[in-house]
Amino acid sequence: MALLPFDDRDGFIWFDGKLVPWRDAKLHVLSHGLHYASCVFEGERAYGGEIFKCTEHSQRFKTSAELLDFVVPYSIEELDAAKREVVKANGKPDSYVRPVAWRGSEMMAVAAQNATIHVAIASWEWPSMFDPATRMKGIRLDIAEFRRPDPKTAPCRSKAAGLYMICTISKHKAERKGYADALMLDWQGRVAECTGANVFFTRDGALHTPIADCFLDGITRRTVIDLAKKRGIDVQERRIMPDELPSFNECFICGTGAEVTPVAEIGPNRFTPGNISRTLIEEYATAVRPHA
Ligand SMILES: Cc1ncc(COP(=O)(O)O)c(C=O)c1O
Repeated sequence: MALLPFDDRDGFIWFDGKLVPWRDAKLHVLSHGLHYASCVFEGERAYGGEIFKCTEHSQRFKTSAELLDFVVPYSIEELDAAKREVVKANGKPDSYVRPVAWRGSEMMAVAAQNATIHVAIASWEWPSMFDPATRMKGIRLDIAEFRRPDPKTAPCRSKAAGLYMICTISKHKAERKGYADALMLDWQGRVAECTGANVFFTRDGALHTPIADCFLDGITRRTVIDLAKKRGIDVQERRIMPDELPSFNECFICGTGAEVTPVAEIGPNRFTPGNISRTLIEEYATAVRPHA
């Protein structure tokens, strides 16, 4: 399948306060964000023209930047309105939405206190993060070598571009071995998350998920926990060590991109997508759709 490059598409991108034609949304090679990873982003989805948890994503976007010591120069309301404007302008009610903020080119060294902060928002159609033909059977996960860092070594609550370096390396390695993605442990060897999604397990009718204390506490993760609790499913957020993996029946990952995706394998461990996964896939699919 021919790839459609992301810099050569039709449509509009909101760039520093206004919509510009897609191909004109450019930045200079000497941008601090590119060299020193002073860059944060969001991943959101619009369903039926409405962005799910739009304001929560805008809040996290602002917080992510503050954790990197810069301020997104737009209010939550302005960001919400800009995202809606982009989705509308691109004419695809079901789309992925990508706000990104970075330090610009005025200064080019580690310190960049006076560099201008830029913000862009794009949206495009992205029906499924994993192969739709096999997704519902459960994806296969490798176990990554890199670990989620100690919160004392990185601003791990920020959705910061720099924190994805180990995710890309791990995912590439997994894909080369024929896996769809990789499960990452944390700096203490506990089960953490995938390269772009959080992880859940089931045992004896209860849901188990790691405490999000050194990785992204996903908006989807919190939604799934709420949906499960409303259904009367016991949810346990706790430390999970890899040697517990064989004792779980079901496993799924969740995130804005991944939505709720069943997992069939993690390394040598096998899981069977079952009732709890199916229920939460359906509940999530209903929750994200705009309600009349
Ligand atoms: C590393 C990582 N963890 C978790 C998530 C899930 O976050 P959310 O549900 O807010 O999209 C994402 C993004 O989707 C991610 O990139």
